[in-house]
Amino acid sequence: MALFDDHFISAHRGASGSCPENTLCAFARAARAGVRSIETDLSLLADDGFAIFHDATLGRTVAGDAPISSFDRAGLAGLDAGAWRDPAFAGEPVPALADVLSWQQKTGIGFNWEIKCHHTDYPRYATALARALAKADPAQTLISSFDAGCLAAIMPELPQIARALIAETLPADWRAIAVRLRLDGFHLNHKNLTADQVDTLHDAGLAVRCYTVNEAADIERVRGFNVDLVMTDWPERFIQFDHISGHER
Ligand code: G3P
Ligand code: MG
Repeated sequence: MALFDDHFISAHRGASGSCPENTLCAFARAARAGVRSIETDLSLLADDGFAIFHDATLGRTVAGDAPISSFDRAGLAGLDAGAWRDPAFAGEPVPALADVLSWQQKTGIGFNWEIKCHHTDYPRYATALARALAKADPAQTLISSFDAGCLAAIMPELPQIARALIAETLPADWRAIAVRLRLDGFHLNHKNLTADQVDTLHDAGLAVRCYTVNEAADIERVRGFNVDLVMTDWPERFIQFDHISGHER
């Protein structure tokens, strides 16, 4: 059975439609909705720990303009990742990866760690990630990235963890990339995906997961393509698709 093959709906940055993205609040909301996996973003910190954080710099979700890489784990506690969404979320911290791994142990929810290398060098990122995920359960852990170079650096460090390349559009040389990086699959933008691509990738033994699918009609469409999983900001709206029969995987 392929990784995360027992479900169809995965939470993108947690339940980020209703909660501030990439926070424990968003993850808890996703868990309450019943998801069995969560996609989130990992940014390297100054002390070689990781923040659950999408962007290279503050500004969009946290006030300020400093690079996230200039903080250490202790410094994350002073960042407010909730107020930008609503005053009701003020004080919601930027989680450290260690906090989320502890939460994962309690909940048993799978994680798709999207590695955001930003401008850090690949060997440093890979060494730090291998240390952080040394005890991660390969059955509940996936690493994905837009950055093939970062995935290549991770490969020898965490050979037991499945890898996927993220792409807005399936690259023409996808087969060579999949062989070189020993990929488990591709994570593709649903807007550019075709049923033929899904069939071809499945025939090659690759999983096809797609992002970020926030409309019921789009979920129906890609379910018709037989994609393996969709990442959505609204797991609480779409979790029922986990239980609709007839989705062959
Ligand atoms: O992992 C899929 C998706 O999250 C990639 O784009 O910008 O939301 O991290 P982004
Ligand atoms: Mg992401």
